[in-house]
Amino acid sequence: MSLSNAAVRDIETVIHPYTNLDTFRTTGPMIIERGEGVYVYDNGGNKYIEGLAGLWCTSLGYNEQELIDAATEQMRQIPFTHVFGGKSHERAAELAERLKAIAPHAASKVLFCGSGSEANDQQMKLVWYYNNALGRPKKKKFISRTRGYHGVTVASASLTGLPGNHRDFDLPISGVLHTDCPHYYRYAEPGETEDEFTTRLAKNLEEMIIREDPDTVAAFIAEPIMGAGGVVIPPAGYFEKIQAVLQKYDIYFIADEVICGFGRTGNMFGSQTFNMKVDSISVAKALSSAYFPIAAVTVGEDMYQAMIDESKKIGMFGHGFTYTAHPVGAAVAAKTLEIYEKRNIVGHVRDVAPRFAAHFARLADHPLVGHARSCGLIGALELVADKKTKKSFDPSLGIAAAVVGAAQKHGLIVRPLAGDIVAFCPPLIINAEQIDAIFAAIEKALDDVEARVTKEGLRAA
Ligand SMILES: Cc1ncc(COP(=O)(O)O)c(C=O)c1O
Repeated sequence: MSLSNAAVRDIETVIHPYTNLDTFRTTGPMIIERGEGVYVYDNGGNKYIEGLAGLWCTSLGYNEQELIDAATEQMRQIPFTHVFGGKSHERAAELAERLKAIAPHAASKVLFCGSGSEANDQQMKLVWYYNNALGRPKKKKFISRTRGYHGVTVASASLTGLPGNHRDFDLPISGVLHTDCPHYYRYAEPGETEDEFTTRLAKNLEEMIIREDPDTVAAFIAEPIMGAGGVVIPPAGYFEKIQAVLQKYDIYFIADEVICGFGRTGNMFGSQTFNMKVDSISVAKALSSAYFPIAAVTVGEDMYQAMIDESKKIGMFGHGFTYTAHPVGAAVAAKTLEIYEKRNIVGHVRDVAPRFAAHFARLADHPLVGHARSCGLIGALELVADKKTKKSFDPSLGIAAAVVGAAQKHGLIVRPLAGDIVAFCPPLIINAEQIDAIFAAIEKALDDVEARVTKEGLRAA
């Protein structure tokens, strides 16, 4: 395969996240050049539906003029000013007001940052700060979940429960514990009902807290639906049982809404879809429809008062990034939230979600599909060698990656995740015909790979 000049330049200069850096030197990158609505185009002029909204983020698609205008106007007015040491700009409060108004808990203030990883890092620092302010210096441990994804900085990668983010990075750091993943299809014991499964998980969590000493456990963080860990949709009642345990031991509950926030699950926040009574949320990605890197955490009044107390004691709140509440990001994000409201994006997701779900239900019968699931406009196909026993393919065969590769040939970009899972998370503006086109392409891709699996006898491998 001959590589384009652009590909060769890329190979020689750019380090690519989540890429096999060895094989990449031979395969090179797919270079995306432009976008329009839910479509992107590569540098060969090929058109694709962006079935993962980039990285679960471009909720308003690829050429939203109002966002382009918001960024341009802000750049003209003042491209950068900051919020350190008592300075501010109007976009910061405008965005914070909008976020507070829709937050799924009683948010008092908003602390901005640049990415989902930074948001979760901030969560950890704030919880430590808070418990020091309250005179509980031992209460510092965080519990997250196996297969949860919370980012890649030292703290957030530690919260992430995926081996690939820990291995040889000397992570997780101490004080971070991982409890069970609520993937009923994969982890239920034989004959266990969903109710028994969620009861067992809540019991395991409680046992972990008791074992660690409840006075040392500060916070629990969870995505409403696990994204990168496999689009794991928790069974009904799961979060109710988990939060009863958290309440019992006075454990701060953080929803990582970085993927689920802003309409993805059919409510403004995933916390609302799953009845999570949280103390704080982390948001990023669709906060600005990914048109500018900006993220945030919300804090309740208790946390805010503790931060004031610490400021009195220490002299300042000693945290902040150069780009905290970046004015261009804040302008774009405020406009994004305005668009969600005026175009009723949640209503649109609710309108099209049944069609999305019906396609998953149909594909559940495909010979490669062990489990098909969706909620709102996020979903996954979990591929298996044996539908009855749920036996997986040998991971080295890369079956999900093969399906994703075939889908790309049929004009669809989706993403393979560990465990032979194909993830779907299209821009929220997608319409019914475009949803049909996603599934027409993936069905062809599944058939292509099924033909190869049968021909080469890969089920027996
Ligand atoms: C749920 C969740 N939290 C945090 C992150 C990290 O966000 P970022 O990549 O912006 O640092 C991600 C990224 O995919 C995510 O899906």
